[in-house]
Amino acid sequence: MPEEKVTTKTFLEMKQKGEKIAVLTAYDYYTAKILDEIGIDCILVGDSANMVFYGYPNTLSITMDQMLYHTKAVSLASKRALVIGDMPFLSYQTSVTDAVCNAGRFLKEGGAVGVKIEGGLEMVEPVKKIIEAGIPVMGHIGLVPQSIHKFGKYSVQGKDKESQKYLLDSAVALEEGGCFSIVLEAIPQDLAKKISQSIKIPTIGIGAGPNCDGQVLVINDILGLYEEFKPKFARRYAELSKEIREAVKNYFDDVKKGKFPSEEESF
Ligand code: KIV
Repeated sequence: MPEEKVTTKTFLEMKQKGEKIAVLTAYDYYTAKILDEIGIDCILVGDSANMVFYGYPNTLSITMDQMLYHTKAVSLASKRALVIGDMPFLSYQTSVTDAVCNAGRFLKEGGAVGVKIEGGLEMVEPVKKIIEAGIPVMGHIGLVPQSIHKFGKYSVQGKDKESQKYLLDSAVALEEGGCFSIVLEAIPQDLAKKISQSIKIPTIGIGAGPNCDGQVLVINDILGLYEEFKPKFARRYAELSKEIREAVKNYFDDVKKGKFPSEEESF
């Protein structure tokens, strides 16, 4: 694990050395602190916060101000990890000016190092302008959750020739546009491998198989804290919802039975 702060340059070097990049989402200070201390390379303040923090069924309604609130807390805790802020729906699709101004807010107000933007070929223009302003951009193609109503459901992308070509062309165009990495979400592993081999910048997979240059998951999914559904690609490393239920039930029972507080817990 490199001692120094991870930068976008470190990302490139890791791909060159064949070292896998470990990315997780976080939305608050104390979770980010644990991730940073463990040595997670990059913390993504995902707009998935709208689902796993606020309880909405999709990512669409989260605002710039909400994203900045979470990004500030995560940035404050991150001494080494690269912090990336996820640009929310309609903060960059409306105009290039909106895209640059809102991306800039993630750095000026949120303390992030860069931003993530969903979309391929159609997003290259704003991506270039944001990068020209000195703001690193992580691309995101495949299943792009902000387009849920266009897709109709969260489904694997890149299954037919036309969409495979679009995704490969998009990855190449985003690299040429200056992105420092690209998230590949929910695409067949062979396509993810082909894309990863076709570009020099690292690919970060989520439901894109083992041949990406790095992996990202939502922290609530790996901790078993999001019970609405479990994506096929997410691995649960803990069952924290169950543990919280048990702890709260024990506290509840103790209070009701007069077993809490004890003499030692009293003054
Ligand atoms: O919002 C998010 O958490 C994401 C990642 C899962 C890639 O976009």
